[in-house]
Amino acid sequence: MPETLADFEPLAREVLPAAVYDFVAGGSGSEHTLRLNRAAFDAITLTPRILTGTAKPNPFWTVLGTRWELPFAVAPMAYQKLLHPEGELLLAAAASRAGIPYTISTLSSVPLEKIAGVTPSWFQLYWLRDRHVVTSLVERAVNAGCSAMMVTVDVPVMGRRLRDIRNEFALPPDVAPENLVDKVTQAHAGAPGLSAVAAHTASAFEPAVSWRDLEWLRTRCPIPLVVKGILDPRDARRAVEVGVDGVVVSNHGGRQLDGAVASIDALGPVVDAVSKDCAVLLDSGVRSGLDVLKAVAIGASGVLVGRPLLWALAVEGADEALALLGREVRDAMLLAGCADLAAVRELSVGRATWPISS
Ligand code: FNR
Repeated sequence: MPETLADFEPLAREVLPAAVYDFVAGGSGSEHTLRLNRAAFDAITLTPRILTGTAKPNPFWTVLGTRWELPFAVAPMAYQKLLHPEGELLLAAAASRAGIPYTISTLSSVPLEKIAGVTPSWFQLYWLRDRHVVTSLVERAVNAGCSAMMVTVDVPVMGRRLRDIRNEFALPPDVAPENLVDKVTQAHAGAPGLSAVAAHTASAFEPAVSWRDLEWLRTRCPIPLVVKGILDPRDARRAVEVGVDGVVVSNHGGRQLDGAVASIDALGPVVDAVSKDCAVLLDSGVRSGLDVLKAVAIGASGVLVGRPLLWALAVEGADEALALLGREVRDAMLLAGCADLAAVRELSVGRATWPISS
């Protein structure tokens, strides 16, 4: 019986093929950043307030013009049919019931229109070499009713994910990037030094994507625009100058530049630089309601949650995982004496002086 989000991972590992487990769990290179994301969260301390008379905290969150029940969203994650035959549809339905946003990946294994029909969604855009495909994805997402466009900017190429390379990881025949015409992932199997998924990325993604492309997208995108994969406050400022509505402080869950700063350590400077001008979200390493509170206390509007929800999806536990995370957020607010997220932002945030071993 899962009592924390972490409890879903071993359950999923039992039912998943080893290479799929590795594809989800893994990071790039030596997985330093993957581990750092957790160590950095663990090192953060909050100083609770007392006697605030809060019996029933209210964790609602307004972002990009919409009010949601809880301050977290489902991170965009590709190929969810790897985890469960219904894939994205199952996780999106759980997000809908929990009252949180679901982010549809460019590389979803169910067409975006079908997912957007299940739940209020954001759309995540990868910058593809073919500008016509980018334009068409933007139009399709807007027409399908997606309420925000989240462009991911930290994948000029895929990070070297050694587990996938060693496993010669390729998508099974029944899983494909359904939003793209180019579904030739099988044809990429066996490329030297690249997993088939990385080879597909190398052929489809535009490595030279630049600020000019973001400016172009701003003029084309009629819905709120969010940039995902920012770690440097200077880039956050520049994104605001282009006119974005939000940034996601993210190192892609440790899957891109190994050695990149932990997202939670990068958050404070980005908040200082842009939080007056746009929403600041965070992902990478969020594993509990307490982590959500830490990010909000540092100044995030809210967070995205990645891998734990895929583990839950694999064991048909997405509703349970989201309910658990919601309960943890409320419990942590209560214990910290916070009636709402504004009170969370007033908490004193510190750093443990002693290493914590788990
Ligand atoms: C991802 N992520 C990702 N990001 C994105 O912008 N588009 C995508 O298609 C994907 N696909 C994807 C697949 C898988 C299996 C994983 C694990 C991750 C990154 C994701 O949105 C998010 O940044 C991280 O997963 C957050 O870190 P945690 O919560 O997994 O530690």
